[in-house]
Amino acid sequence: MDVPNFHSIPSPAFVLDMDRFMKNLSLMKDIQQNANVDIILALKGFSLWHVFPLVKNYLAGATASSLHEALLIFNEMGTKAHTYSPAYIPSDFDKIAKYSSHVTFNSCAEFIRYLPFISSYNPLFSAGIRVNPGYSPVDVALYNPASPGSRLGVTPDKLRELRQLPCLEGLHIHTLCESDSHHLEKLMAAVDLYFGELLPSLKWINFGGGHLMTKSNYDIQHLIYILKKFKENHPNLKIILEPGSAVVWETGELVSTVLDIVDNNGIKTAILDVSFTAHMPDTLEMPYKPKILNASNIELTEYPFSYRLGGVSCLAGDFMEEYYFSAPLQIGQKLVFLDMMHYTMVKTTQFNGVAHPEIGYWSKKEGYKCWKKFDYLDFRNRLG
Ligand SMILES: Cc1ncc(COP(=O)(O)O)c(C=O)c1O
Repeated sequence: MDVPNFHSIPSPAFVLDMDRFMKNLSLMKDIQQNANVDIILALKGFSLWHVFPLVKNYLAGATASSLHEALLIFNEMGTKAHTYSPAYIPSDFDKIAKYSSHVTFNSCAEFIRYLPFISSYNPLFSAGIRVNPGYSPVDVALYNPASPGSRLGVTPDKLRELRQLPCLEGLHIHTLCESDSHHLEKLMAAVDLYFGELLPSLKWINFGGGHLMTKSNYDIQHLIYILKKFKENHPNLKIILEPGSAVVWETGELVSTVLDIVDNNGIKTAILDVSFTAHMPDTLEMPYKPKILNASNIELTEYPFSYRLGGVSCLAGDFMEEYYFSAPLQIGQKLVFLDMMHYTMVKTTQFNGVAHPEIGYWSKKEGYKCWKKFDYLDFRNRLG
């Protein structure tokens, strides 16, 4: 992988690599054109609005989960959002309607409750409903929207209620996560099986996120093939995909520094100026072990020096099990966490008042540029 010169980048910092980011965007634009679908950015995974004007040149828009995300899309991308929320805050709905081109409801009851809005705003926004076909390849319960009893989406047994919804124009389905095209193919089959009779009367279908089309071994030709086939079978439907992770997959890093090394009964922990719980919460929630530049996640003869990595917060579990290095770690040494653009900046907290990493970008042409540094006032003003 072609990586920036991290010596010139301050620590801690989230750094978007513009060159790699543009590569992802171009690939997605090609897929969009070849498959005749709309691909929109899911803000929940990545909402770095500085790059929204760029994203707009490549993708067909963006998807929001709340009024604030819809507003960010409207203000910074200059387009209306595709909005879905498990439930809408009644006092927000006027604005949701104003800033959205598509609004998806999570239940038939909520759809009916908002019917006066839907028909009065129609055709200002197109109304859809989220359905849950009960199929998901995701094993981790925290990330499986189709787990038994899930609150997300209308299940097939409610098909009769769905058929009676007036002004319904679209279906929204989200049950994939870092999935391949074969999982999407199975999802399409489940949608056809359970909700097929509804499809001829609709205008659009949104297959949610979780399509990891920018990962190196993703079968793009197969993706295009199944999308075209679905379109052939349902020519009335505009197909929409709303990935988050795929847009910024492997396009940026979190730069950190070793502050101290502590030893407890032979277990050495390098304490960093970043925190797993505050800056990379998915590493503890999902959980997963992020890759580090020039280090191994597993024991190898070329990497004989092992360290736990500790976050700078006081949470006992704010650490990652052993990483392996080719030389002993030094105080002041930079450690670079790879693939840190998705579900990081959108989820960070200032727990313990820990310093938030600055946010910037890097390109071969311009080097490193900072977009945002955080200070005491950012911490203070969050609470009043
Ligand atoms: C409704 C919906 N759409 C899109 C996404 C984006 O998924 P991903 O970032 O895995 O592509 C998510 C993620 O949770 C989601 O819940």
